[in-house]
Amino acid sequence: MAVIYNHEKRIFSLQTKNTTYQMMADKLGYLLHLYYGKRVEQDMDYLLTYADRGFSGNPAEMAYNRTYSLDTLPQEYPVLGTGDTRSTALIIRNADYSECCDLRYVSHEIIKGKYSLKGLPCVYTKKGEAETLSIILEDALNGARVQLLYGVLEAEDIITRSVIITNNGKEQFVIEKAASACLDFMPGEYELIHFYGRHTMERNIERVPVTHTEIKIGSRRGASSHQHNPGIILAENGTTEDYGKCYGMLFVYSGNFMCGAEKDQFGQTRVLMGLQSEQFHYPLNKGESFIVPETILCFSENGFSDLSLKYHDCICNHICRGKYKNKERPVLLNSWEASYFNFNGDTIINLAKEAADLGIRLVVMDDGWFGKRDNDNSGLGDWNVNEDKLGCTLGELVTQVNKQNVKFGIWIEPEMVSEDSMLYKKHPDFVLQVPGRAPIRSRNQLVLDFSREEVRKVIFNQICSVLDQADIEYIKWDMNRNLSELYSSQSFPGCVAYNYMLGVYDFLEKLITRYPDTLVEGCCGGGGRFDAGMLYYTPQIWCSDNTDAIDRLRIQYGTSFFYPACTAGSHVSAVPNHQTGRVASLNTRGIVAMSGVFGYELDPAKLSEAEKEETRQQVKRYKKYAGLIQNGDYYRLSDPFKDIYTAWENISKDKTQVLLSIVINEIHGNMPVYYVKLKGLEKYAVYKDEENGAYYQGAALMEAGLPVKCSLGEYNSYQIVLNMQK
Ligand code: GLA
Repeated sequence: MAVIYNHEKRIFSLQTKNTTYQMMADKLGYLLHLYYGKRVEQDMDYLLTYADRGFSGNPAEMAYNRTYSLDTLPQEYPVLGTGDTRSTALIIRNADYSECCDLRYVSHEIIKGKYSLKGLPCVYTKKGEAETLSIILEDALNGARVQLLYGVLEAEDIITRSVIITNNGKEQFVIEKAASACLDFMPGEYELIHFYGRHTMERNIERVPVTHTEIKIGSRRGASSHQHNPGIILAENGTTEDYGKCYGMLFVYSGNFMCGAEKDQFGQTRVLMGLQSEQFHYPLNKGESFIVPETILCFSENGFSDLSLKYHDCICNHICRGKYKNKERPVLLNSWEASYFNFNGDTIINLAKEAADLGIRLVVMDDGWFGKRDNDNSGLGDWNVNEDKLGCTLGELVTQVNKQNVKFGIWIEPEMVSEDSMLYKKHPDFVLQVPGRAPIRSRNQLVLDFSREEVRKVIFNQICSVLDQADIEYIKWDMNRNLSELYSSQSFPGCVAYNYMLGVYDFLEKLITRYPDTLVEGCCGGGGRFDAGMLYYTPQIWCSDNTDAIDRLRIQYGTSFFYPACTAGSHVSAVPNHQTGRVASLNTRGIVAMSGVFGYELDPAKLSEAEKEETRQQVKRYKKYAGLIQNGDYYRLSDPFKDIYTAWENISKDKTQVLLSIVINEIHGNMPVYYVKLKGLEKYAVYKDEENGAYYQGAALMEAGLPVKCSLGEYNSYQIVLNMQK
């Protein structure tokens, strides 16, 4: 039983294999958080202490007793206006403009299976894999009814949280802030680890102490963003990859979000994960409801490696969907860095011929095939095939590609419009724009108002009529700018960012329902919307527009903290690299790309015969280990931000096969010898190096490691395959 209720004390325990999460509806009806951490088997209400704290207010029921204050007690879903002056999970503005809501326990239900959320992505499970706890809290005055939802995946140590807010009162109120998860910790010294970045340099890692200064990260860009990823780790001071306690909070949402952490006056830590409160004001009329997107929680007492493995499994098994969920993803050749906007049908057919020769079975025609689109100033919104440019119909082109025994994929950017387009001329009102104000352009394009169904319909029909013209096996869904004007003719301004996201999800759901056999890869100028929300619809995402192998080491390292290898699109591109000008060997570019969903982003016709042969071997090698990479466990073995070398390991779930990859990042005079220690092996088993036949005990590889071949020189790399001996 994953959810246990102690009727007498009104204590709820969420028990997973290794963790316990506990809360209590106390005598006043407030839901107090008791504990989250390593599994315990007892009621934790004894942890609560009640002291007379000056300047911390007391609820009226306490009369002149000053020892009970919501300003100091750990809470499950704190709300502004009832004495808690810390940052709260919920703010409601009532019809009289008061910002107050007094939520008390009303009832609860324990349900078999995992709840789902209408219109929003969330963790899903099969029968018997999860239980749901639903707790209803209510404010007797304004009629706000708050349903706290907890999904407990016992075997996986995963707890999900979401919230549904309903107006059961008479008058409208406005939700001004809504988080789906709050974690209050009474004692403890913590650090917050978050993933910041920029276009072509996503998911760098920063580790900051949680102090009495409020730490806030988030996005106001209408996408989860290149700048901050909606996943954070709260770690006890000193936690490493292998030791120490840490908590993950991953928001299953692709739009504006906010995460905050701070220590209160008594050193208690509070962390919140939820919707961005800026530009968010969501009015609820009588009878209306609002769903706060889900947060996935996980705790590990064994450091970041273990936490990451748990998130990887959760995303692979309970977020990603569709035909390709567990299927090997095709190796692809994308036309973007091969020819940018400058191509015709023959270019694509030639790419297909080259691809076939290299063993690649999917060619993707990127941006530039539609409307009038020879650069990024025009054409978005006109989703009709530019047959003049291609020199043939799409059907004819795909037939030619298929003749090479190569499948065909296509790029789309449904959410956008160029002012220089037929669509914009016909429907200038379709864009997000503040009336009377000049539009903000970004990449010279505007954003369509996807919160409106009629806008989505026009685009959906256009795109379907293209997709129906041929056998299209793959779609790359792009989004190349952020939202800046949150104004829609049909939504209240404070609702636009959220309704836009619901619109995108609705479109994606319809697309994958209509084309269930098509693999959809997400993209947002690379990894600007790399989040669990998108992964619910697109089981892989183009990790970054930066294809430089050495920069990718860092980008892929940061990405791996929450997201599994099978979700991260990673390609070999030409040198000098188009983003950085750096030259890395083909071998290194291949090894780095093999840590994700593998492909190419270059014109193979420009390769020498020797390079082509090397590429053939590379493709073969990837295909040989694709199952291991996509379905096995992934371990980070070094830190590319600090270490001289970058190493990572893919190991099969049964621990019988290991693929170790190492890249030398830096070279210096008279180098010391570095040793890379492997992880997750069978201690007593013997592993054989496939190439040189050397034997090693699992324990030796984990405890002492292998010397790193720095002599190979800067930016060079190698892989070692180890097979367990029977
Ligand atoms: C974005 C993508 C690229 C490419 C271009 C096309 O930047 O991330 O991979 O598709 O758009 O315009």
